Amino acid sequence: MFSHSTLYLNHHAMNYFIITGTSSGIGEAIANRLIHRREKVFCISRRENPALNLLAKREHSGLWYYQFDLRSTSKIPGLMKEIFSFIDKETVSGIFLINNAGTLMPTGFSGTLNNSEIEEHYKTNLLAPALLINEFLKLTAELNIKKTIINISSGAAVSAYAGWSNYCAAKAGLDMLTRSIALEQKNAPFPAKVLSVAPGIVDTPMQEIIRESKVEQFPMKEKFVALHQTNKLAGTDDTAQKIISLLFDNSLLGGEILDIRNL
Ligand SMILES: NC(=O)c1ccc[n+]([C@@H]2O[C@H](COP(=O)([O-])OP(=O)(O)OC[C@H]3O[C@@H](n4cnc5c(N)ncnc54)[C@H](OP(=O)(O)O)[C@@H]3O)[C@@H](O)[C@H]2O)c1
Repeated sequence: MFSHSTLYLNHHAMNYFIITGTSSGIGEAIANRLIHRREKVFCISRRENPALNLLAKREHSGLWYYQFDLRSTSKIPGLMKEIFSFIDKETVSGIFLINNAGTLMPTGFSGTLNNSEIEEHYKTNLLAPALLINEFLKLTAELNIKKTIINISSGAAVSAYAGWSNYCAAKAGLDMLTRSIALEQKNAPFPAKVLSVAPGIVDTPMQEIIRESKVEQFPMKEKFVALHQTNKLAGTDDTAQKIISLLFDNSLLGGEILDIRNL
């Protein structure tokens, strides 16, 4: 006898989602929605997320949680190899990667920053996504399935902010990775689609950090305090829903740099 959940899974397109930064904010909201849909989800963050684990148990949904520091860049190929060992190549219909993990730290003007913190910043915000994409494309090259990568970018990729120089540079770098890799994938036998998405101003712990920053470190601080006071922040769940719908949007060809506020 099949259990109800087994029957459900057998009739379901086998999609697998790899999401970074799922312990809070936008990444957590994306994972939450996917678990509710009983999708197979691989989560990556330094902290664990007991709420997601509990939800996955309740929904009988496949969740693999990796407590992993993305700054440990040399361990990323091994991590991806392990994740792909759980993907059934016979039944898989789609594999999705959402590079969402990110940090603002260190904020402050160049000339006052700690060098190793700058290095760590690029590891988290730019190097880890580049390596994850490289491994993803390697491990899926022979698979004739749907493959989509979304890089979570920022308005800061196009607008310069004093105090966020490395954040702006890393997010601009992420957008350029998206555009260049999209060109490469155009002629691949089984191409992957790569998109960049700026999520807008979203109510997450990252925004709390922005509102708590010192004016000397981030002169635009008051703009973000005002947006919060006038309830202008987007919700994490609405944002997650829009990002998930982009994964399945067939009108997008790959290489697009999107802003959720314009959708
Ligand atoms: N909120 C906004 O208004 C806004 C605007 C524009 C862009 N974004 C972008 O949206 C994305 C998500 O941000 P959020 O607002 O949801 O912020 P958040 O609540 O601070 O979440 C950031 C996530 O990234 C993970 N992370 C950070 N460093 C990591 C590391 N070294 N290894 C593994 N995971 C790491 C964190 O997990 P651990 O700490 O557990 O590792 C956390 O789950 C970021 O890329 C951010 O730049 C946000």
